[in-house]
Amino acid sequence: AILREVLIVANRLPVSVDASTLTSGGLVSALAPVSDAIGSTWVGWLENGPAEPFVVDGQRLVAVHTSREQYARYYEGFANQVLWPVFHGLGEYETHPPVQSEAANWLNAYRKVNRAFAERIAEVASNGALVWVQDYHLLLLPEMLRSLRPDLRVAVFLHIPFPDPAALVTKPWARELVSELGAAQLIGTQRERDARHLGAALHLLSPQSSPVVRAFPISIDTAPILQEANRASSPSTVTSVRERLGVTDRPMLLGVDRIDYTKGIIERIEAFSALLGSWEGSEPLPTLVQVLTPTRETIPAYQGYLARVNVATTEVNRQFGTASYTPIVNINGSYSLPELIELFLATDVMCVTPLRDGMNLVAKEFVASRVDDSGVLLLSSEAGAADELHSALIVDPRSQLELTDGMRRALKMSDEEMRIRMRSLRKHVLGHTVHNWASNFIKAAS
Ligand code: G6P
Repeated sequence: AILREVLIVANRLPVSVDASTLTSGGLVSALAPVSDAIGSTWVGWLENGPAEPFVVDGQRLVAVHTSREQYARYYEGFANQVLWPVFHGLGEYETHPPVQSEAANWLNAYRKVNRAFAERIAEVASNGALVWVQDYHLLLLPEMLRSLRPDLRVAVFLHIPFPDPAALVTKPWARELVSELGAAQLIGTQRERDARHLGAALHLLSPQSSPVVRAFPISIDTAPILQEANRASSPSTVTSVRERLGVTDRPMLLGVDRIDYTKGIIERIEAFSALLGSWEGSEPLPTLVQVLTPTRETIPAYQGYLARVNVATTEVNRQFGTASYTPIVNINGSYSLPELIELFLATDVMCVTPLRDGMNLVAKEFVASRVDDSGVLLLSSEAGAADELHSALIVDPRSQLELTDGMRRALKMSDEEMRIRMRSLRKHVLGHTVHNWASNFIKAAS
């Protein structure tokens, strides 16, 4: 039994812009069922959100207020142009604003927005409540809450990787960030490797801190996926989805990603190009269907990445396409879960090949969708999911040779091997849901 009030704290509130309905997607879809099940309060940013706690679709919500400008420096600035690339070990994408003062501004804004969260939480939390902080946007909350409200329990779950301390200690902000984070009672990570990295960083930068640091691999809400997949899993649905995409009578590979440089989309396209270039025999060439979901569009590194993805796609289509064959079909936009499930069911091979990823829930959603035990998952060793989904075809996302060979093996895999692997993947995913994840975490935090 959970006796303490639980406050889930995340960057954004899980509501539509007009705050009339709860939204789904990413972190939100992972936590909404949890929040339903334990009757918690969500705390998050919402532009022009109500001053008092409010309820949407039965969910109690508390809005944090901060100006748009300050929010932008915190979110697009420090969180997404500094912490995101550095934590993913992709420091080459870190933005260094020209003058020192601008960078200081970002960190300053990050601190101020974290403080606005801390003050709001301090106002609304009941005595002894558990504050469950989500992700890299709010890493200063533990120390702030400890001084404002020492009665609260504070636990953090980091959805993204934690970097090798060697890549962190050189950052001017590393010590304050790690030591203020270290004031939490519990810090959960996706992978054992992240927990080791964080433990080492705490030891180096904040030896006084004593949080428990442990891996709690996140998962998905399998029930709605199973329900939808059982409905959509029929040869006629698959045929009509394939027709719509123009992928009939040839194998299909699928990628579903936010347009983010961590996702390895360019490397995947290049590997696919090498696959087409080395195709032997008379079998029809495969098509790669790539769903590209816009994200963080005002950030230059993201704009540049989208442009590179488009150039690479056009080049492959120019080189290998014909009047009746488009090698890469890009679908721009965000897909609803039922639409995604139809794509998952229509594909032969699912490509989840990020350069680095906290977990990657698409991998687990694909597996949960394949109710008839068919389909192959090609999975990056650098996605957290690789620690659990051992029966996937696991490849190094930076090795074009491994990626191309993985695609080839996946397309050639015998029905028997495919089913043995998929059954084992499904057993794991269906037995480890987001509900298990949340209750394990809350138990450890209470
Ligand atoms: C990752 C992060 C989440 C984030 C999501 C979407 O999964 O771990 O915290 O919500 O990306 O990114 P966005 O910037 O749109 O919230």
